[in-house]
Amino acid sequence: VLKLPLKFNNHYDCRLCVGSGAVESLPDVWEDEWQAAAVIGDSNVIGLFGEQIEKRLRPLVEKMIILQFEPGEQSKTRRVKEKLEDSLLDAGFDRSTCVLALGGGISIDLAGMVAATFMRGVPTVNLPTTLLAQVDAAIGGKTGVNTRHGKNLVGVFHQPSAVLVDTNLLDTLTPDEWRNGMAEAVKHAVIADGEFFGWIEANVPALLSPHGVDSYLVQRCIEIKSAIVMEDERELGQRATLNFGHTVAHAIEGATSFSVSHGLAVAAGMVVEAGVAVEKCDFSSDSLRRLRRLLESLLLLPKLDLGFNDVNPFFKADKKRRDGRIRMSLPASLGRMARNDEEYTLSVEPELIHRSWRTNLCKSD
Ligand SMILES: NC(=O)c1ccc[n+]([C@@H]2O[C@H](COP(=O)([O-])OP(=O)(O)OC[C@H]3O[C@@H](n4cnc5c(N)ncnc54)[C@H](O)[C@@H]3O)[C@@H](O)[C@H]2O)c1
Ligand SMILES: [Zn+2]
Repeated sequence: VLKLPLKFNNHYDCRLCVGSGAVESLPDVWEDEWQAAAVIGDSNVIGLFGEQIEKRLRPLVEKMIILQFEPGEQSKTRRVKEKLEDSLLDAGFDRSTCVLALGGGISIDLAGMVAATFMRGVPTVNLPTTLLAQVDAAIGGKTGVNTRHGKNLVGVFHQPSAVLVDTNLLDTLTPDEWRNGMAEAVKHAVIADGEFFGWIEANVPALLSPHGVDSYLVQRCIEIKSAIVMEDERELGQRATLNFGHTVAHAIEGATSFSVSHGLAVAAGMVVEAGVAVEKCDFSSDSLRRLRRLLESLLLLPKLDLGFNDVNPFFKADKKRRDGRIRMSLPASLGRMARNDEEYTLSVEPELIHRSWRTNLCKSD
């Protein structure tokens, strides 16, 4: 198990344990003053891991509660947050509480937000159980809920005090959930590490399923993401590079009412945006071919029955827009993002996106 301290402008430390068996480090990261434990997760993960976590926590605390909610994005709301908070208050939980966020990105975001405002903020320990949560959501301190206006529109930064990333927990993931995380892993490689991109290429058959996953995959992704968020906790600059592929992905998700999974949307988005980068940032067409081939071999690029005109209206909702123009983070090469001084996003003409969409993704439109 790899142990890393994360530091945020010297004001905040987060203990991070990554590897097979990392959950055994729970007593090492648990602080004496956390005398009450609130385990929060969806009913699937509580069913899978609740008992195991309870056994490990019991000796460490005076009281403990396990709270579960219905799996799915429709639970990531203020209403469910309120219910969880009421359950904690009804059971007499106070400032000595530590929230243990157990599960995928939804549990992490929702439990994290409960912790961020309960008693004006109590500590959180993240225990991510999907690949997506391990390589992405559990690191960086973004919490939030959805509203009818869109995803993640209400939320707060709340850094976890510790993150335990145990790759053994991934064994029960469905192939779809596995692929969701793999798309973000490829994204991390494109953003920050060309050698890691080559490592993923070289390990494709083994990376098609969670069984016997090499913890290097998760470890390298976490190193990449934590380096970026420690540099730019509040997304004022470099953190925007983590949005590679996501401007187009969010438009695809919007145009299909989220029937395309996030990972596949991100994979398609990376291909289109990398195509834009070929014209705008000297990203080589050979790199674009490698990226496309890798995503195909990881079964991340299905046929999308979508024209550019279907997705185009959805660019209006992108949070990175400025002065009515679409902005994107684009790669300069496999492993390095383009930047202009302190500027990590570039304004992109819709025609360029349209052209790349047609040539690189959906030949018919
Ligand atoms: N905070 C951030 O920085 C950040 C980053 C990326 C994504 N997110 C958020 O994460 C969410 C998506 O996360 P997700 O894809 O992990 O979804 P999820 O939390 O819904 O998990 C996917 C499914 O897998 C099940 N599951 C979880 N662990 C399992 C396991 N070990 N074995 C079997 N089944 C398991 C869950 O019950 C759920 O049904 C989105 O809401 C997104 O906005 C947040
Ligand atoms: Zn994503």
